[in-house]
Amino acid sequence: MIAFLLSFLAALLCESVHSDNSAVAWCYNNPACNFTTWPEIAPHYCNGSSQSPINIVTAQVQGNPNLTQFNLTGFDANTTFISIANSGTSVVVTLDEDIMSVQGGGLPGRYVSKQFHLHWGNGSSLPGSEHTVDGKQYAMELHIVNLHSKYNGNLSAALAAHDSSALAVLGFFIEGTDEANKTKGWDVLTSFLTKIPYSGNATVDIMNQITMNSLLEGVNKTKYYRYQGSLTTPSCNEAVIWSVFKEPIKVSNNLINRFSTTVFAKTTSAPLLNTNNFRGVQPLNGRVVTSQVEQTASTTAPSSAATSISSLSLLLLLTSLCCL
Ligand SMILES: *[C@@H]1O[C@H](CO)[C@@H](O)[C@H](O)[C@H]1NC(C)=O
Ligand SMILES: *[C@@H]1O[C@H](CO)[C@@H](O)[C@H](O)[C@H]1NC(C)=O
Ligand SMILES: *[C@@H]1O[C@H](CO)[C@@H](O)[C@H](O)[C@H]1NC(C)=O
Ligand SMILES: *[C@@H]1O[C@H](CO)[C@@H](O)[C@H](O)[C@H]1NC(C)=O
Ligand SMILES: *[C@@H]1O[C@H](CO)[C@@H](O)[C@H](O)[C@H]1NC(C)=O
Ligand SMILES: *[C@@H]1O[C@H](CO)[C@@H](O)[C@H](O)[C@H]1NC(C)=O
Ligand SMILES: *[C@@H]1O[C@H](CO)[C@@H](O)[C@H](O)[C@H]1NC(C)=O
Ligand SMILES: *[C@@H]1O[C@H](CO)[C@@H](O)[C@H](O)[C@H]1NC(C)=O
Ligand SMILES: *[C@@H]1O[C@H](CO)[C@@H](O)[C@H](O)[C@H]1NC(C)=O
Ligand SMILES: *[C@@H]1O[C@H](CO)[C@@H](O)[C@H](O)[C@H]1NC(C)=O
Ligand SMILES: [Zn+2]
Repeated sequence: MIAFLLSFLAALLCESVHSDNSAVAWCYNNPACNFTTWPEIAPHYCNGSSQSPINIVTAQVQGNPNLTQFNLTGFDANTTFISIANSGTSVVVTLDEDIMSVQGGGLPGRYVSKQFHLHWGNGSSLPGSEHTVDGKQYAMELHIVNLHSKYNGNLSAALAAHDSSALAVLGFFIEGTDEANKTKGWDVLTSFLTKIPYSGNATVDIMNQITMNSLLEGVNKTKYYRYQGSLTTPSCNEAVIWSVFKEPIKVSNNLINRFSTTVFAKTTSAPLLNTNNFRGVQPLNGRVVTSQVEQTASTTAPSSAATSISSLSLLLLLTSLCCL
């Protein structure tokens, strides 16, 4: 993820911080540079201990009362999508950070929306999401990348600060459906792919055509997982507060197929369709995934002590009522 921004950033970092790894040539489909090699070719920070993505084990998710509703600003505006580009590793839509932002949801402040991009497998038949839930991998995953407002839009400054809450990424799973033309927004978005088959193709203006919410149709945005992690592409900075939404976006299979059949990856050799552009899941290393406290036995919060206390107070209440 964040490949587009990072390729630009790499040059900046190269001069200032770690000249050894920031300009590293990484990839998904060549054994010489695929994600299994990243801890070696980009040890800062792909060999860290709080890496993303992860497999979310629902039985181990803990209740977290801080995870309130998000305040999503500009998600219904049709003026936020500035342009679409093929970064060579993904398809990236640049967002207008003056219009779109995210706060609430237990985040420590306001985050401006920089871009979103996608991860996919090979059409609707081979899944390619980055996060998995109880081992289930979805067809695709959408990442909305938001930067804390205190950095004034300067991502390189944020990453140089080694701030674990510099970025808040919203992750949405995409699931295929046989229903044709399920989502108008996705039909419009994917119609631009034929204009950007190669990473060298100019970015295309897509203003006034799609809203963010039209791509997130049907997802209840009050239900999500939260954990502390990293960028999922080199240099894998551990600077991300992740929110992974539970409900998938349903997108027609024919539209999902457009990604793996239209967009080419950046390679030095012959053009190769971009497929399987996801990183495999990383070890949790003791990190805890939290979610909204639900009224079920699966959360850890309501202990038997709490239950007996409330039974006791009910008993006392009834007793006092009886005594009146
Ligand atoms: C990545 O490359 C390694 C060799 O470096 C290979 O063993 C592995 O199967 C490849 N993984 C993927 C997902 O392509
Ligand atoms: C990655 O980190 C592990 C554990 O800290 C260490 O054993 C290993 O040598 C490191 N690998 C690289 C390539 O730096
Ligand atoms: C909720 O937020 C408070 C204040 O920021 C923090 O101290 C606490 O650890 C958070 N709880 C969880 C479960 O993350
Ligand atoms: C939501 O965020 C916007 C933009 O930061 C802000 O103007 C608005 O007051 C916020 N609304 C709520 C209910 O917090
Ligand atoms: C993707 O699927 C197509 C069509 O089924 C197949 O021809 C191609 O070899 C697959 N590519 C990869 C990388 O799996
Ligand atoms: C962004 O931050 C970097 C590192 O702190 C700094 O060198 C650069 O000048 C800043 N860029 C802008 C446009 O302010
Ligand atoms: C889906 O969209 C295509 C192209 O816009 C149109 O030709 C077709 O009739 C639509 N199908 C359905 C079931 O609405
Ligand atoms: C994309 O770039 C390729 C290679 O440079 C070029 O042949 C093609 O015409 C471009 N396509 C578009 C839609 O600009
Ligand atoms: C964009 O949104 C504005 C305000 O909601 C609306 O008037 C306009 O028709 C929309 N433009 C398009 C191209 O949908
Ligand atoms: C989203 O889920 C919450 C919690 O289950 C529920 O109260 C709310 O009605 C749902 N919202 C929608 C739009 O379905
Ligand atoms: Zn991503």
